[in-house]
Amino acid sequence: MDLTNKILAATAVLAFWAFGAQAATNDDIAKRLEPVGQVCIQGKECAGMNVTASAGAGGGAKSPDDVIAKHCTACHSTGLLGAPKIGDGADWGKRAKEQGGLDGLLAKAITGINAMPPKGTCGDCSDDELKGAIKKMSGL
Ligand code: HEC
Repeated sequence: MDLTNKILAATAVLAFWAFGAQAATNDDIAKRLEPVGQVCIQGKECAGMNVTASAGAGGGAKSPDDVIAKHCTACHSTGLLGAPKIGDGADWGKRAKEQGGLDGLLAKAITGINAMPPKGTCGDCSDDELKGAIKKMSGL
């Protein structure tokens, strides 16, 4: 619910900004950009809330193990803050069911959910890299 509002707010801000940009001064534009920066915590790919945005194309892909070790284990190895534990198939399975499968989980991981930060703190992870990490952690 909270998350939906956030996305709606971001979309509204973007739409408003695009609409008014032509007639605006640089100052106005900068001011309007501020809230966008705040909503898009990782500062990347805000316009690409559509999951299809090709993040991280080019450059070597990070392996699931790399991503997990650097970004996800901190919370997901111990279940910190209620995070589903790595390898806890029951918990992950239940979540997958609620979110409509692996892609649903990926969408939540990208936007963040409750104490789960957007992209699990891996701001430069592509969707595929995040998906690989989720697959590996969940066993789905
Ligand atoms: C700061 C701690 C933290 C880090 C770091 C973190 N997570 Fe999470 N994650 C959580 C918590 C807490 C939840 C449970 C959120 C809830 O359901 O309330 C969660 C839930 C999830 C979910 C399930 C979402 C759902 O809809 O139920 C996925 C998928 C996920 N994390 C992926 C990742 C990936 C991938 C990484 C590493 C790139 C990562 N997380 C890093 C804390 C973290």
